[in-house]
Amino acid sequence: SVVILDFGSQYTRLIARRFRELGAYSVILPGNAPLERIQQESPLGIVLSGGPSSVYDESAPKPAPGVLDLDVPVLGICYGMQFLAQQAGGDVKRAGRREYGKADLTRYGGQLFEGVVGEFVAWMSHSDSVTRLPEGYEVVAETDDTPVTAIENTQRRRYGVQFHPEVVHTPKGTQLLLNFLKVCAAPLDWTAEHIVEELVQGVQEQVGEGKVLLGISGGVDSSTLALLLARAVGDRLTAVFIDHGLLRLGEREQVEAALTPLGVHLVTVDAREQFLGALAGVSDPEEKRKIIGREFIRAFEKEAREYGPFDFLAQGTLYPDVIESSGGEGAANIKSHHNVGGLPDDLAFKLVEPFRTLFKDEVRQIAALLGLPDHIRMRHPFPGPGLAIRILGDITPEKLDILKRVDDIFISGLREFRLYDSCSQALAVLTPIRSVGVMGDERTYSYTCALRAVSTDDFMTAEWARLPYDFLSTMSNRIVNQVHEINRVVYDITGKPPATIEWE
Ligand code: XMP
Repeated sequence: SVVILDFGSQYTRLIARRFRELGAYSVILPGNAPLERIQQESPLGIVLSGGPSSVYDESAPKPAPGVLDLDVPVLGICYGMQFLAQQAGGDVKRAGRREYGKADLTRYGGQLFEGVVGEFVAWMSHSDSVTRLPEGYEVVAETDDTPVTAIENTQRRRYGVQFHPEVVHTPKGTQLLLNFLKVCAAPLDWTAEHIVEELVQGVQEQVGEGKVLLGISGGVDSSTLALLLARAVGDRLTAVFIDHGLLRLGEREQVEAALTPLGVHLVTVDAREQFLGALAGVSDPEEKRKIIGREFIRAFEKEAREYGPFDFLAQGTLYPDVIESSGGEGAANIKSHHNVGGLPDDLAFKLVEPFRTLFKDEVRQIAALLGLPDHIRMRHPFPGPGLAIRILGDITPEKLDILKRVDDIFISGLREFRLYDSCSQALAVLTPIRSVGVMGDERTYSYTCALRAVSTDDFMTAEWARLPYDFLSTMSNRIVNQVHEINRVVYDITGKPPATIEWE
């Protein structure tokens, strides 16, 4: 494998991810991992990651003695390059300007850049620079601000780049990583199957003979996790799916049909009365969320006691969640989300989080391998509080019934017209507004519903989706014709910000 030594860069996992995309197997080890540990991996090459330190600091992290004497190619990125240069006898100083953001290479060449043509935009984030080149090295790239932007010693197979080839802001960076893999002669046959095997093995090692509890939300992450865990520990997994009555039409049946036949011990809890009772008469959005969170924990706790005791609680935490909550590799904080924010102490579990190193699209690939049907695998996100935050004001069984039918028409329509995958999330909202209309020869006085569809990469900001007018018109007709409680349909044309994606 290729060994990535982590010196604390926020991008270290991205390096591994790019290698995976290129089909190469890599492992991330702490920057100071002992030589023997690295040798266990039969390294074909070593990457020194970036990091927040300066190489001239006393406490600067270093690879263990002997690691850089291994006769394998080495790629230093940012801090890694500075370390490589300093260790080989060059100088690194807080010189010139701090460079942060995109920079154009004014010149590039050499082995690392082989096959790259045209302009090269590089993502920089550094205040130290290599100011004197070590012997045997040459400069192979420069920018206006950084004369030593990339270096190599092809004889010893040592390479360094000051910028980050692994981030998307360096669009041609993947070619550099591929060139490095070629120098390493790393086989490019690492596939999703391998990743599944590795994850299964990891879970088996962690869990041993223990029992695992998992909350199922119906989304892709928890469903895929259920399939993976079922493969790893069989029926020592109990997956709990709480039907709070705020799900979409047919959702519970779909989840059951997808997971049970594939060997997941799924316990579906019908908690509809409990939730709707607790929500009756409540119209404040935050109050609704709180009630749902509280009832959720109650219901989950009850099942945990009923089927337990459990040693482990599984969570579908993804790598971006890990970065955002800045949990890093250390103590895992339970994602509050809607499921298991505040379980009592006597239900103290250890966490199993096999997806902590993966990105969403990788989970989707794994899901395909494990047999998760596409309608769940490629599903838009759905909020934990479900339809409760899409019914403005108080929630009644009648309103829920109306919204479920509207939502089903809209979402099925998006699929039918092949627009579903072109937006990131789509939803229907039931407003408390009633207005006058005319149908047949009769005056109506009924509810207004809103449709919303957005495009976004990260759900932090979003644009309203430019759905075709003809499609919107068809949806409007269908909704008003089939859902008699609705006589007016509007489309939400607000971005986020200033609006949020959900209406509550
Ligand atoms: P907003 O409305 O904040 O939504 O723009 C951003 C994304 O988060 C989802 N969302 C939630 N998910 N519990 C969840 O699990 C919640 O309380 C919640 N509120 C919003 C929303 O569907 C969108 O994908």
